[in-house]
Amino acid sequence: MKGRDLLTLADFTKEELHNILRKSSEMKSDLKCGNYIRPYLGGKTVILLFQKPSTRTRVSFDVGVHQLGGHPLYLGWNDLQLGRGETIADTARTFDVYADGIVARVFKHTDLETMAACARAPVINALSDAAHPCQALGDCLTIWEKKGRLEEVNVAFVGDGNDNVCRSLAEAVMKFGGNMTIASPTKYQLPSSYADSLKKGASKGAALTLTEDPKAAVKNADVVYTDVWVSMGQEAENQERMATFKAYQVNSELMSHAPKDAIVMHCLPAHRGLEITDEVIDGKNSVVWDQAENRLHAQKGIMALLL
Ligand code: CP
Ligand code: NVA
Repeated sequence: MKGRDLLTLADFTKEELHNILRKSSEMKSDLKCGNYIRPYLGGKTVILLFQKPSTRTRVSFDVGVHQLGGHPLYLGWNDLQLGRGETIADTARTFDVYADGIVARVFKHTDLETMAACARAPVINALSDAAHPCQALGDCLTIWEKKGRLEEVNVAFVGDGNDNVCRSLAEAVMKFGGNMTIASPTKYQLPSSYADSLKKGASKGAALTLTEDPKAAVKNADVVYTDVWVSMGQEAENQERMATFKAYQVNSELMSHAPKDAIVMHCLPAHRGLEITDEVIDGKNSVVWDQAENRLHAQKGIMALLL
């Protein structure tokens, strides 16, 4: 996998994704044993370019690059000449002469594609409007640890079906042979063209179910997952989204329709009282802090293999 970009999980085989998870798990055990620095990056510089706010992704990549013996260089979009109109292509060419890897969070997924086309250094998607692959890999590591399997695992996503986190999660779960159910209002459901591509990339036996009914979605769930109703960049749709998603809150009533041992996941940041209630996110089935932690280990696994 050395030298590859990671823009979406669609470009990776099930075996490659398994290798990333294995490496991530190795990184985690190693750290727990007190081995803080594993010099996979041997002094290499990794640029962390962010066009949108971030807590987990920014911190975990910074810490992760350091723990791999590299140098993380955080850059805010508007601090660069990008903010004054220099093109993304020329920015990527410039990064390429100084750095060995580019981690980028952008509004438009096509901007990542441009960067990847113009830089030889691997480009890693730290969230775009279309995908959040590092989140999905960290989440699969969490599901694997908590449920002991990814094959035939039932994941129910409740909320915005066309959300970047939901899209990458579905890609990963179905590639690993799990079943994905998405409960979303029809207007915000995953587009059929994307559903078709998910099915094409899935392992044999993996199913995708799209529904408007959250209760039906969680009925046989091993995992109940939600994300914000208004993603970064969608603020103008705030009022309409708030009204439409009201019936999609993950609360105790909804969880009473799920199996007792279903784990609750959220990529965070959460809007408590909107897509998820305090009692559920702070409840005994919630694994959100394991998810946040596993971002670090998964991204170290990704960087060790790609960079
Ligand atoms: N889940 C996630 O990507 O969080 P941040 O926006 O804080 O990075
Ligand atoms: N869907 C959310 C995820 C944040 C990590 C967003 O794009 O804002």
